[in-house]
Amino acid sequence: IIKIKLDNPIAKVQPNMWGVFFEDINFGADGGIYAELIKNRSFEFAKPLMGWSIQRKKANEGEILVVNRKEINTANPRYLQINNENGIFGITNEGFKGIGVKKGLRYDFSLMYRQLNPGIKLHLQLLSATNKVIGEGSLNPENNGSDWNKQTASFVATETDPKAKFSITFEGKGKIDLDMISLFPGNTWKGRKQGLRADMVQLLADMKPGFIRFPGGCIVEGTDLANRYQWKNTIGPIEDRKMLINRWNTEFAHRPAPDYYQSFGLGFFEYFQLAEDIGSDALPILNCGMACQFNTGEVVALDELDPYVQDALDLIEFANGDVNTKWGKKRAELGHPKPFNLKMMGVGNENWGPQYLERLAIFTKAIKAKYPDFKLINSSGTDPEGDRFNLLNTSLRENKADFIDEHYYRPADWFLKNAGRYDNYPRNDTKVFVGEYAVHADSKVLGSNRNNWQSALASASLMTGLERNADVVQMASYAPLFAHIDAWQWAPDMIWVDNLQSYGTPDYYVQKLFSTNKGTDVVSITLDDKNIIGQDGLYASSVLDKTKKELIIKIANNTDKSQNIDFELDGKTKLKTKGTVEELANSNLNQLNSFDNPGAVSPKVSSISLKGKKLNTSLKPYSFNVIKIPFN
Ligand code: AHR
Repeated sequence: IIKIKLDNPIAKVQPNMWGVFFEDINFGADGGIYAELIKNRSFEFAKPLMGWSIQRKKANEGEILVVNRKEINTANPRYLQINNENGIFGITNEGFKGIGVKKGLRYDFSLMYRQLNPGIKLHLQLLSATNKVIGEGSLNPENNGSDWNKQTASFVATETDPKAKFSITFEGKGKIDLDMISLFPGNTWKGRKQGLRADMVQLLADMKPGFIRFPGGCIVEGTDLANRYQWKNTIGPIEDRKMLINRWNTEFAHRPAPDYYQSFGLGFFEYFQLAEDIGSDALPILNCGMACQFNTGEVVALDELDPYVQDALDLIEFANGDVNTKWGKKRAELGHPKPFNLKMMGVGNENWGPQYLERLAIFTKAIKAKYPDFKLINSSGTDPEGDRFNLLNTSLRENKADFIDEHYYRPADWFLKNAGRYDNYPRNDTKVFVGEYAVHADSKVLGSNRNNWQSALASASLMTGLERNADVVQMASYAPLFAHIDAWQWAPDMIWVDNLQSYGTPDYYVQKLFSTNKGTDVVSITLDDKNIIGQDGLYASSVLDKTKKELIIKIANNTDKSQNIDFELDGKTKLKTKGTVEELANSNLNQLNSFDNPGAVSPKVSSISLKGKKLNTSLKPYSFNVIKIPFN
């Protein structure tokens, strides 16, 4: 008999307990949630015409140059110069692994141009994979002179093709400079111009995540300091956001993608806006003056750390400052006079060692002096049980860290064995943020495996241990979040997308079941007076939701047999007689979700009845169950 004590909550659940981890990895941002369809729109990739090809209808009658003005424009040095004498020629963009085009959908084209005299007209065409025209429009540049202009044109697609291309043909005599050649679908999230892919944001919104951690991950650190993430380069007009090679482009990625760059079209303002849209807390992670220790291991000299610390202070002002402050004003100019109410930030991603502690101390002193209540997340490296982790943890706790960020990518049996990991953790002021975790069949072969039902069930089992210890583990996020099916560097991932569709893996449904049933107070659930961490393959936790007035029991059955379970619900809380069960189950632990079968592992809802204070249910083999009983 499993006993639940209803009347004596043992811990509070933080409203933001279950969140998401966002990184531009696996084409998560560029080529993913950032809905731009043109790859290398401003010609700043290492190879300036990567993604583009040139079509000449008459040989050599057109001229095309990539011009570099890096002395006067460091953020966006290159543009394209078209010098058309007589001929007709065109340029074609291949998109990010093709362009996803939907029949009947509007496409919004825009560009920046400069011309002394009019003369050249642009024909715009979406071409199917077999070169059929499946949407077309035109643009007649209206302004002349030496200044840059922006102009837009829209047209509707006539067919669907997940692997289309986009071509611009230049007609007429003359010279024109072009930059920021851009194409977006007309159905972006909230209809925002040059915004985000609505289907991907919707999957996040449906999870009701407590926070969004961004922008990473390793891209925060960079392979070296020159290539670290700098938030100030990611706000304001998109043509002024300085592109950067993506860390997952380089030799340090498991599957490097040579065409992976960060346009920062999704920048810090958009991250804050996204968090606000879906009701999540923003959780930015900043570089602590150290590049990735697995890569170059470069650190900034201690006496040159100031600009890094200043970036952190300025970010708080950008998010929260009054519109009369320098950075608060900037936020208002970007369209958000109201503060974003930022409460926390991470200093460093996976950093460790004395170098980390020295730099962290300087950040902490400066930030706490100005914002005493602001919470800081400290890194604990990458090894959740090694000496390095223990040493660093001891120091961070001695220094009264607000949060320590633990990461684990480990096999399923490690997750099961660690479901009791936090039962005996120190109960002092320092809290745990499990900032990245996922079951990897073989943690030494990252990027080699997909998350099947076994990984999700093991995650769910461990997560009951996080929830049971919600007084210590106050936040958690699965990682990574998104992956493009044709362009990933790391797997497993929570959500897979192609150019038109997206689906959640079994892990997505586990995460969603936790975050949408988080409750407010943990109550004790035991088998023979012990926490349920593996007896008969069961893992369980239980919470009350005092707002919705519900008892919520989460229980995983990790065996290949059905289990008949009796619950005894002790206490004066007046439970109603009918409840529901949301069940994730599959007898095949290797079961995957896919584009063809996105719901192979997805929740099924049924009803359940109580007899007095007793509840009986049968748990399917290999199942995770969320039982909800309302109370008065
Ligand atoms: O989630 C993928 C990577 O795993 C992150 O970028 C990094 O923090 C961790 O090593």
